[in-house]
Amino acid sequence: MRYPQEFIEELKNQADIVRIIGDYITLKKKGQNYWACCPFHGEKTPSFSVSAAKGFFKCFGCGKAGTVFQFVMELEGSNFSEAVKTIAEKAGVALPVMTNDNDAKHYEERDKQRDDLRQLNSWATEFFESNLESGEGRIALEYLAKRGISDESRRQFRLGYAPNSWDALSSYLQKRGATKFQIERSGLVSLKDSGSGFYDKFRGRLMFPILDTQGKVVAFGGRILGEGDPKYLNSPETVLYTKGQHLFGLNYSRDAIRRQGFVILVEGYLDFLIPYQHGVRNLVASLGTALTDSQVRLLGRFCRKIIVNFDPDSAGVNATKRSLELLLTEGFKVNVLTLPDNLDPDEFIRERGAESYTKVLRSSQSFMDYIVEQAIKSHDQNSPAGKVETLNEILPYLKLVKDRVEASEQVERIADRLKLDSKLVREEFKRAVETRAERVSEVAVTAQLTVKPAEKRLLAALLNHAGVRQRILRQMAEAEYKQLRTAPIFKLLFELEQQGSEPTYDVLSERIYDAALVNDLLPELLMELAEKSEEAYNREAEESLLSLRSTRLAEQQAVLQTEINQAQREGNAERVNELLLLKFELAKQERALTNQLRP
Ligand code: CTP
Ligand code: MN
Repeated sequence: MRYPQEFIEELKNQADIVRIIGDYITLKKKGQNYWACCPFHGEKTPSFSVSAAKGFFKCFGCGKAGTVFQFVMELEGSNFSEAVKTIAEKAGVALPVMTNDNDAKHYEERDKQRDDLRQLNSWATEFFESNLESGEGRIALEYLAKRGISDESRRQFRLGYAPNSWDALSSYLQKRGATKFQIERSGLVSLKDSGSGFYDKFRGRLMFPILDTQGKVVAFGGRILGEGDPKYLNSPETVLYTKGQHLFGLNYSRDAIRRQGFVILVEGYLDFLIPYQHGVRNLVASLGTALTDSQVRLLGRFCRKIIVNFDPDSAGVNATKRSLELLLTEGFKVNVLTLPDNLDPDEFIRERGAESYTKVLRSSQSFMDYIVEQAIKSHDQNSPAGKVETLNEILPYLKLVKDRVEASEQVERIADRLKLDSKLVREEFKRAVETRAERVSEVAVTAQLTVKPAEKRLLAALLNHAGVRQRILRQMAEAEYKQLRTAPIFKLLFELEQQGSEPTYDVLSERIYDAALVNDLLPELLMELAEKSEEAYNREAEESLLSLRSTRLAEQQAVLQTEINQAQREGNAERVNELLLLKFELAKQERALTNQLRP
């Protein structure tokens, strides 16, 4: 069986030779290369080396050398297609399905079309480049100068100009020998509505060639000169170009990325070109979209650290967040850089220079800090519902932290940052992270973050009348107030009662550390305007206590319900029944209480 060339190339792109050889033998990094004792001949000191940058291995002892394919064939004694299969599995690349001769023919035909299109793209690149040197192209040169692109850069990146004409490029391609059939499928022209014939797709645009890792042009992006819509026009998908499989600039920046050990991910063509021209070379551009998994695998061949530096607008924030999951899953260490004053890398470097840029790079945030700050910014931190949403927004990213110790450290840090003073909220947050829940329990968290009216009435009575306090505290158990926002006040009231001390503002404010309770709630409770009789306080206290008990039962039922749902999703019928029984029991108790409340 013969695999299509297209697939072999994709596999070469995505297979990390160091990781794959490292599956067979233990490699140690020394300088740019990796070393091991040669698996092909006996030796005690390593003379077998792998170059990630050049994608091959060589043994200086026995002289064997080759690509990752040859390594696997040699070591496993397999033929080429068996080695392809092994490597694809190790690299996580799906094998193409081929069942019969027709498929093989189809792939041969496709390989031929790909070769043809490479030729057309190469002609088109020359055509666009040459236009810059003459006539109409002068406006494009002026535009480049205005954008700060040097002559040297535009030559290096083979920028060009598509003239404002319906057929300049297609005529040129035909003159060079392209057939109409080839041009129609090149992505360089649009088909006429009438159904026959075509016209140039890129007209009056500055042209950026997009290269694959072999340095071949696979597609183009074209920017309008000045204002207009669409600002950028991109090649459609062709036999050579699948969106989300290439990274703009990688072919130029790969060595710098390996040398520096990290890559900066930017959005646009100019966000790549300007930093590169100013000496920041370890970067690639995703071209205005979130990363795809094949782009992430491609990057993984060059480094394991990334700084995402997208635009600070909402599209950029979303693209950043969507990229994070993929990057973390592939094992990248991820930081995020948000440039000040809404600048993109292009603008920042032109305004403030490359040195300032390298400086702010060092201040980039870890991905988790970034996510937490974004979540805090997008929800009201003063409302319990906002807090719940903040936690829920952060949860999925905590799941991506695979190391348990690190995850629990993160939970503590985040809880501090969100000012989650309540021990129970912290516990609920931890529980959600540990059980990989989708959301925190809203009931458990909001109950903790809001002071209920009944809670207030009860405390007011307890604080303002010693007799009521004595009687009611005797009826209360710790479990009844432990869940409440005001739990620290209750706890202290119990302690003071045992010591026979009065709960004065002085004592309370000294021994309670929750600022919101001390500064806002306590004065309000202690400063009751209308003095009430012992009887009135007593009645209020008893009613409030009943009401709190019934609320608590309702909350417990709600928590049970989420557990029931979970058990149902897991198909655990036994557990569902068990939980349902518990819930019935709680419902019964709640009904009994409500009846007491309504005399
Ligand atoms: N993009 C695109 N099509 C558009 C707009 C944007 O493909 N209609 C891609 C381009 O690759 C562009 C990137 O998204 O470089 C970022 O877009 P944007 O931030 O809008 O543009 P800038 O890169 O800032 O473009 P410029 O500096 O040229 O204005
Ligand atoms: Mn820009």
